[in-house]
Amino acid sequence: MMTVAFSAILYALLISNSFAELGGGSLRQRQSPRCVASSFANVVNLPGVTVTVEKAVSIAERGSYTESGNQGFPNTIDMLPALCAMTVKVTNTSDVPTKPQSSYRIGLFLPTASNWNSRILTVGGASFSGGINWPGMSEGTHYGFATLSTDNGHSSAGSDLSWATPARLYDWGYRALHGSVVVGKLLVAHYYSNSPSYSYYAGCSTGGRQGLKEIQYDANSFDGVLVGAPAWDTMHLMPWISKIATLQLNTTANGRLRATQLSILATEVLRQCDAQDGVKDNIISQPDQCRFDISKIICSDPSRCLTRAQADTALKIWGDYTITTGNNSGRNRTVYNGFALSSEDQWSVYFGTDSALVDFDFSYERYFLYNLSSQYTWQQYSDQVVLDSERINPGQATANKFDAVSSYRNKGGKIIMYHGLADGLISPKTSLGYYNATISALGSSVGDIRSWFRYFEVPGMQHCYFSNRFNAPWDFGAPGQASQLRMLPALGTGLKAFGDGWSVPGHLGDERYDVLSALVKWVEEGTQVEQVIATAFTEDLSGKVYRTRPICAWPERAVWDGKGDVNVAGSWRCA
Ligand SMILES: *[C@@H]1O[C@H](CO)[C@@H](O)[C@H](O)[C@H]1NC(C)=O
Ligand SMILES: *[C@@H]1O[C@H](CO)[C@@H](O)[C@H](O)[C@H]1NC(C)=O
Ligand SMILES: *[C@@H]1O[C@H](CO)[C@@H](O)[C@H](O)[C@H]1NC(C)=O
Ligand SMILES: *[C@@H]1O[C@H](CO)[C@@H](O)[C@H](O)[C@H]1NC(C)=O
Ligand SMILES: *[C@@H]1O[C@H](CO)[C@@H](O)[C@H](O)[C@H]1NC(C)=O
Ligand SMILES: *[C@@H]1O[C@H](CO)[C@@H](O)[C@H](O)[C@H]1NC(C)=O
Repeated sequence: MMTVAFSAILYALLISNSFAELGGGSLRQRQSPRCVASSFANVVNLPGVTVTVEKAVSIAERGSYTESGNQGFPNTIDMLPALCAMTVKVTNTSDVPTKPQSSYRIGLFLPTASNWNSRILTVGGASFSGGINWPGMSEGTHYGFATLSTDNGHSSAGSDLSWATPARLYDWGYRALHGSVVVGKLLVAHYYSNSPSYSYYAGCSTGGRQGLKEIQYDANSFDGVLVGAPAWDTMHLMPWISKIATLQLNTTANGRLRATQLSILATEVLRQCDAQDGVKDNIISQPDQCRFDISKIICSDPSRCLTRAQADTALKIWGDYTITTGNNSGRNRTVYNGFALSSEDQWSVYFGTDSALVDFDFSYERYFLYNLSSQYTWQQYSDQVVLDSERINPGQATANKFDAVSSYRNKGGKIIMYHGLADGLISPKTSLGYYNATISALGSSVGDIRSWFRYFEVPGMQHCYFSNRFNAPWDFGAPGQASQLRMLPALGTGLKAFGDGWSVPGHLGDERYDVLSALVKWVEEGTQVEQVIATAFTEDLSGKVYRTRPICAWPERAVWDGKGDVNVAGSWRCA
């Protein structure tokens, strides 16, 4: 992995901090420590906490790794640098008897001492997965980070919620991630005989939620966090998913959107909205500004149209979910924001297409809220679920203590948040909502929010990665992106794996193209992140660049210069 770019970034990372301070100690420092479980015995001595190193194995340069039985992240990862892979089991009784005992596993990838950049990177999970996120961790190791993630206290695939017990809910909600950071820092310091100089976080979706939750919970965990498409508002997101599923399933309303209608919708949205953002380039850059007229596709021919009832379903999925139930005296209250225009291709994930409902399917009500031994059916859903969800807040997972982030801000912590505007799993409006809520919660003490918290919208990107019909630039080194490209064959795409397993092909570790490197520079050198150039590859994903474009810190957006090639980043600026 010693490419020119990699050596350059490694050098840049090394000179900036503690390696420079090591002086004569650096020779000893550069020897590889022992990658055996027994060398970590008794390293962690915290009250109520038991730490057992289950396994420590050395992986050779360009090696691969799979953890058998990992239901959350079952894929083999390849192209690893030389490192030590460890799994650790933790139990924590500190919350007893107020809350049940905590129990979770941690995975660590520890690069050889000479490749370690003296930093630690914690990586988040995905949806409801129980499993160590080795693919996410693998990306970070190439930069030189010691990386870690947790199984979040259970073992399951992402769409499985049947594991819920009070103990596991708290672990999934925040305890496993927090404890993993505490324990991880001690194990890393022991391994290299040196404390990490900086601590970072990267996660998308549930991973995004975990990052926001942790900086609200403990300001000392991280110096910089990279938060993608965060599922931060769990208590409202989940009822809303159920609500839109009822729209699909209600046979009286008869407004079910079949696969054909989803495709008709997506095609028509692109036709009407593309040029409205000022540039006809097959990308909907400002979905909120598009005036979309659905009547153009209402007719009686189902091969090219929607019925009026189906159109109503679509309008409700784009619209906000409002309820009048509860203490708001009959007035509407917005519970959750609907998807943006351009997200339609991904809608099928939550409610299937032509056959059964898939994925979350009222599991939240069944397992997280009401703990039922039998099914929960769509007919049982009512707006009361929202109130129950707010009251129960399963696992205290929701990251809504907006003002608590002031401690993180005060100690110099930085946040980069991003969201794909074509995301059909979590509405990008909820990320802007989080940004807005932070500004209001901090009131006059917020200062210049852009000096510590920046939010980037990514036109045409779906949930965390990929862009489907738009082929909009979506690859900017964000969590999961590089490992998805390595997993293309395993994802059943019929495409070959490509990329280097980290960063952006052709721009490895270059902070102009790689948002994680940009975050490091912001935290450590104070270089504000004005823009990051996102890359799109040709549709066969063979590695050829199709187009590049900057993504911009909100409220700025990419503006075309009116003359250059629209497919080249240099023709755009943030304004
Ligand atoms: C649901 O009930 C089962 C059986 O009583 C119990 O073991 C489990 O902890 C409960 N789960 C929750 C989330 O309360
Ligand atoms: C153990 O639990 C306590 C209370 O929740 C928490 O403060 C502490 O960080 C936890 N430690 C670990 C290693 O899980
Ligand atoms: C189903 O749709 C009908 C007609 O729009 C509506 O009156 C009814 O409340 C819906 N039922 C549920 C359970 O949402
Ligand atoms: C509504 O108000 C009553 C009385 O103030 C309070 O006890 C109750 O918890 C409130 N319910 C909700 C859902 O906020
Ligand atoms: C609440 O909003 C819905 C749709 O957004 C609307 O049809 C309804 O009239 C509103 N109700 C009240 C009480 O404002
Ligand atoms: C966030 O605030 C901006 C104004 O600063 C506003 O234009 C936008 O609609 C708000 N969005 C959400 C989702 O709160």
